Order: sequence, then structure tokens, then C-alpha cells
Amino acid sequence: MEHFAVIQSIIRAGLSGDTAAFKKQVLRLFRRLEKAGATKEAATIQRLLKSAGEAKEILPSRVELSRSHVSGETLTPETHVPIDRETGAVLCEVYFLSDQQAVPVYEEHVRAAIAGLLEEWSCSDELRNVGVEPTRSLLIFGPPGSGKTLTAHYIAESLGLPLVTAKIDGLISSFLGTTARNISNLFEFANRYSCLLLLDEFDALAKIRDDPQEVGEIKRVVNSLLQNLDQRRAFGVTIAVTNHDRLLDPAVWRRFETHVHIGEPGSHARTMMIERFLAPLKPEPPIFSIIAYCLEGLSGADLERICLSLKRTLVLSGTSHDGPGLFRALSGVLARLPSQSNDAARILATDPDAFISLIANDSEFPLQQAKIGQATGYGQSRVSAIKKAKLHSPLMEASRA
Ligand SMILES: Nc1ncnc2c1ncn2[C@@H]1O[C@H](COP(=O)(O)OP(=O)(O)OP(=O)(O)O)[C@@H](O)[C@H]1O
Ligand SMILES: [Mg+2]
Repeated sequence: MEHFAVIQSIIRAGLSGDTAAFKKQVLRLFRRLEKAGATKEAATIQRLLKSAGEAKEILPSRVELSRSHVSGETLTPETHVPIDRETGAVLCEVYFLSDQQAVPVYEEHVRAAIAGLLEEWSCSDELRNVGVEPTRSLLIFGPPGSGKTLTAHYIAESLGLPLVTAKIDGLISSFLGTTARNISNLFEFANRYSCLLLLDEFDALAKIRDDPQEVGEIKRVVNSLLQNLDQRRAFGVTIAVTNHDRLLDPAVWRRFETHVHIGEPGSHARTMMIERFLAPLKPEPPIFSIIAYCLEGLSGADLERICLSLKRTLVLSGTSHDGPGLFRALSGVLARLPSQSNDAARILATDPDAFISLIANDSEFPLQQAKIGQATGYGQSRVSAIKKAKLHSPLMEASRA
């Protein structure tokens, strides 16, 4: 039986009355379940702990992680952050734990990679006992709106650490020498406090490197950043985030022990995000698959924006908050977009009947005619007639022409 060893340890700790050991083992089970993709079971443990008032204390394993993984003073909202001496602009922002952070929705391999890192950090002492240091630096890359910054916040939340966020753009000064000083002040600050350092929009570094102006100065800046990154390993975890991984040269790439690519969400991830972003609306689930089908190729941020538009449209037009209402609203919302991301979206924006014909004829679409009819309000017999008429064919041909 999977996880039996952990269950045994939980029982042993429970019987011995050692609460700290008990909590540690429950957390281990939680992480194992998360890593194995048993999200429902992991969520059940979380709920049980919450109802016992324990979740905040042990999920994520805040105390253990921060003690063994990072050193430094405690950041408070009163702590002064470093500023650019020429302009007075702050060099970073500090985000404190919110307890509001929802787990981002990932493709399976990304979920496993992030869960693996969290597990690694929760076992840092065990790793050290066998001579392995837990990962200290992570590079997250992927297209705009894919949830990279969100992931950094989620990791900070999971580690129980405040997040010190700096955008590389914000460190660059037009005054000679100030950029390097800004970088060193930022790292000094991050190393002094117990925190997770996020270098957001990291590709800005590559852009300044290509700037033909001030070549010597730029080299100094890049070198100073690389040195600071190396030294930071002794103090805590650093995450860098970029949209343009190709712009980063190997010297920068090498500084990061782990690289995680968050790509476009697949059909399952899109469906889950749509369900989340449409909450508190609770239509019958098949409509989520229909919406996800139309929105292929869009990022999490795009999906969120469209779901907000859908909710707005439903309320303002007085349309029912169910599947058929959402289907009509989606057609209107897509029609108002400057461009659609794929054929299905284009067809729904112009002719909802043709769209029904498209999905009813698509052997890979997961819903049967009866479900399509129910979710959209068309009814099974109308879906069947539309399917036979192949109403989508002329529009598909037109879009291919
Ligand atoms: N994978 C995801 N799971 C859940 N929500 C997501 C996901 N991706 C994006 N979102 C939603 O989109 C918002 C924007 O995401 P985020 O800022 O993290 O994207 P990003 O990859 O950092 O984008 P950019 O490259 O433009 O900085 C998030 O706050 C969240 O609401
Ligand atoms: Mg971002």
C-alpha cells in the first residue's frame, strides 16, 4: 500500500503523544499526496487540519522550513526597504503571508516539479544528513500570463516566508555606478532578512547587456548581479522569472540549479481554471469543457480576464447564470475581442449554431450530444440535426482560405 510507511510514522507519533513529530508526519503525508497528484486526498487532509485549527500552523511547514533553510532577521511591514539614491524609488516590494493564496493550476509535469521542490525544502535537514544541499535557486520561464509570478508567491507562501520582489528594470539607473549599487543594496537587504528573493522580469538584464551604450558599465552590472547571486546561496532561496529564456546567456542560466517551464495550459488545466475563475457561479460542469475548448491557446491570465467578462455580461444582461446563459454570453464576449485565438473561438463569435456543429462533429471533443444539448440549452435533438447539417464546414473553409 502506497504511503503506508508515512501512515505508520503518523500512528507511532500519535501514540507516543509527540505533537511536533505527529504534525511533521502529517505534513509528510500531505506533500507525498500532493506530489503523487492525489490533490483531492491532499485537500481533505488540509480541510481536516483547518477544522482542527491546525492548518495555519503546519500547512505549509512554515516553522521547519524557515528555520533550516534561511537565516536572518524578521521582516515586518515597518522595515525600510532600500531605495535608489538618485530617484528615491524603492528597489523592491515586500509581500507578507496572506493565507489567501490559491494553489496555481499546472500541467502535470509542472505540478510535480513544484511539489518536488517543496518536498525537498521540507526535508532539508534529512538531505543535509546525506550531504545534499536543498535547491537554492530556481528559474521560472514561460509565456506572459502563465502564472510565473503567481508561482513565486505560492512558493513563498508554502515556505512561510515573506517575498521580496524586485524587477530588474527598477534597479537600472541612468547614473553611472548607481545600478551596481542598487543591485548590491537589494541583495544586502534580502540576505539580512529571512525571506524569499524574487527577481521578476529577469530578461531585462539581457536587454541591457545588448545595449551598445556604456558597454563597460553594463558588464560591471551583469558581473555584480552574478556575484551577488552566487553569494546569496549562503543566505536563502532566490527565484528569477522571465518570459524570454532565450535572451538569457549560459552564464546566467547556469546560476540557477533548477529550471521550470510553465507553458500554455492544456485542456484539463484550462477547464480547472475556468471553473475557478467563474466561481461563485456553479453551472453544470459540462459547460466548463465547452468554454475550455474555445479558449485553447490562451494563458491563465487571459482565461481569468475572459471569465470576468463573462460574469459581467451575465449580470448586466440579466442572463441566467447557468450553462445556456454562459454559452450565449461567451459568444458575445468572443465577438467583442479584437481577435480570436483559434477556429473554434472564431466560429462561436460569429455563429453559435456552427460552433455546436463543430464540437458535435469533433471526435476528440469529450462530451456526447446529450451533454452538449444540456450544457448549451440546445437540447439533444437540435444538436443532432445541426451535427448532420455540418454547419461549421463553410466557416472552417473560409478561415483556411
Ligand atoms: N497557472 C495558473 N493558475 C491559476 N491562475 C493563473 C495561472 N496563470 C495565470 N493565472 C492568473 O493570471 C494572473 C496573472 O498571472 P501571473 O502574473 O503570475 O503571470 P506571469 O506568468 O507572471 O505573467 P507575465 O509574464 O506577464 O509577468 C494570476 O494572478 C492568476 O489570477
Ligand atoms: Mg509576472
